[in-house]
Amino acid sequence: MKSPKLIMRLLAIESSCDETAAAVLSSPLQVESSVVASQIEDHQPFGGVVPELAAREHVKALPFVLKQAVAESGRGWEDLDAVAVSQGPGLSSSLLAGLSAGWAVSRRLGIPFYPVHHLEGHVMSLFFSQQAQEAEEVCPALVLLVTGGHTALLKMTAPGDYEILGRSIDDAAGEALDKGARLLGLDYPGGPEIERLASDAVRRDTWFPLGTPHGEEAKKRGGPFPFSFSGLKTSLRVFLEREPSTARAEVAYAYQHAVMHTLVKRVDQVLQNDREIRSVACVGGVAKNQVLNQELRARVEARALPFITVPGPYCTDNAAMIGAVPLMTEMDAADVFPAADPNLPLRGLRLR
Ligand code: KG4
Ligand code: ZN
Repeated sequence: MKSPKLIMRLLAIESSCDETAAAVLSSPLQVESSVVASQIEDHQPFGGVVPELAAREHVKALPFVLKQAVAESGRGWEDLDAVAVSQGPGLSSSLLAGLSAGWAVSRRLGIPFYPVHHLEGHVMSLFFSQQAQEAEEVCPALVLLVTGGHTALLKMTAPGDYEILGRSIDDAAGEALDKGARLLGLDYPGGPEIERLASDAVRRDTWFPLGTPHGEEAKKRGGPFPFSFSGLKTSLRVFLEREPSTARAEVAYAYQHAVMHTLVKRVDQVLQNDREIRSVACVGGVAKNQVLNQELRARVEARALPFITVPGPYCTDNAAMIGAVPLMTEMDAADVFPAADPNLPLRGLRLR
């Protein structure tokens, strides 16, 4: 098997949830094509992702998405010298669809296969930012990882070397937005819907509690800077029952405010404690949120640190970020077909 540093051009595949995506990247970190086929409309009638439906749609879409990614890169299959695929976390049957397609390509072409941690892909997406060209310049970086399924604060010493400073002990921030949107009668995914509705709020009150739990138990489960969002969702339900006539835009504003300020407060607390950090990045689908971006930028720049924002298409699930992992880190190729792992632990991860 070739060593990672010899990869010139690779095909990457992402199918962990409701996006079927493929990309072609070349060394050192050039995206030559990135195709994302979203299933959002298929799942919208159900108010969330239906695993069986997702897997079926991935199987249908993958051959087209793969061919399109190779065609749009302007290269041929023979120009590829590696394949990288999301192995987990995610929905197992959806992951399996991408892994099988990628494994078939790698065996047919006789090239190495890299199983990638989906969240490490999100972290690597920060290198698609203009502000983060060289790892040595930005590390140690504080990375706020906010997706539909995970919320964590990581200290990245180098690509492939992470320390977890905090994580959610229950729901993720994106999950809180998706569930909150449902309570407000909005479509899936809830984050962008809440952001749109909140921007119409006339009165901008903040009623809901922040999700920053204290106490030893929370720290044991969530690290020194733990998050908790399940209570916030309950507060919203109780509020809607008690005050059904409050304008929905104002409720959406207050709810979004609570989620985003929880995240911003924790970032600020870490920066207060850790003087080694040289930059701050926000990655994952929730990183698209403008309220979050503005608040984070203000706090981070007030400490004279660079704030790294990921271009929008690379915040939500995509395959380019998956391809970035073997290009940016040392990793071993798989010699046997890797099992999909919904609970795959992040390698190189230490809990402080
Ligand atoms: O990273 P991602 O595409 O998928 C996962 O790995 O989970 O993140 C999806 C999450 C969803 O919870 C969605 O509501 C949220 O990202 N999201 C947003 C925005 N756009 C997507 N949340 C807040 N504001 C947005 N503009
Ligand atoms: Zn994701």
